[in-house]
Amino acid sequence: MGRMLDVDDLVAATANLFLTGSLSGKTLVITAGPTREAIDPVRYLSNHSSGKMGYALAQAAVEAGAKVKLISGPTHLPRPDRVERIDVVSAQDMFDACHAAVANCDIFIGAAAVADYRPASISSEKIKKDQQDSLNLQLIKNSDILASIAKLPNRPGFVMGFAAETQQLVEFAQEKLYKKNVDMIAANNVSSPEIGFNSDDNQITLITSTQVQELPRASKMALAQMIIARIAEEIH
Ligand code: C5P
Repeated sequence: MGRMLDVDDLVAATANLFLTGSLSGKTLVITAGPTREAIDPVRYLSNHSSGKMGYALAQAAVEAGAKVKLISGPTHLPRPDRVERIDVVSAQDMFDACHAAVANCDIFIGAAAVADYRPASISSEKIKKDQQDSLNLQLIKNSDILASIAKLPNRPGFVMGFAAETQQLVEFAQEKLYKKNVDMIAANNVSSPEIGFNSDDNQITLITSTQVQELPRASKMALAQMIIARIAEEIH
């Protein structure tokens, strides 16, 4: 009260007055960030995903007028304004939260780096190192959240996933498009350290069954706006 908004917030609020509303009236569910797979009460398996790309997409979608649910693994990012965030930890939690959120939604985006495997059993006590010089963990495969949503009989009208590859970007992404039954894959090359995981910039190629569109290298926020614009085009 009585204090002016921070300049960045003021700019964002003002910019909202000029938005195209290309997704107005649409509902969108998006996953972001890593998942953590418990080994025992103090340890877990995870990955380096920062969640930046998914959060940027959630923000771009809300700015385009969509109602957005962001299902997020553990990240250090603040909740984007006007986005409903549902916090989850493990891949199984994320799977359950997605299936609970997805009814009647128009668009689903899988941007999370879901752990491919989880320990077959979680030790209820902290595993002690005293008695053993080596430790074997048996891992079992997690369900594919994106594919499970895309294969629902009443699936969202538009489903999109990501493909992080180090080689044969387009070929592997096309394979994923068909295998997971999704409408678009955003493929990014993770072999370069300046882009991808944890960095602010990214380079993305959008792949549908009929087109391969290479987006310019840009910040994750700028790319998110381009991706949302493309989704709006596709669904209209
Ligand atoms: O098969 P791959 O992990 O490369 O596919 C990546 C895409 O699939 C991403 O969109 C990711 O969010 C999604 N995915 C998922 N559940 C998994 C594994 C991947 O939703 N268990």
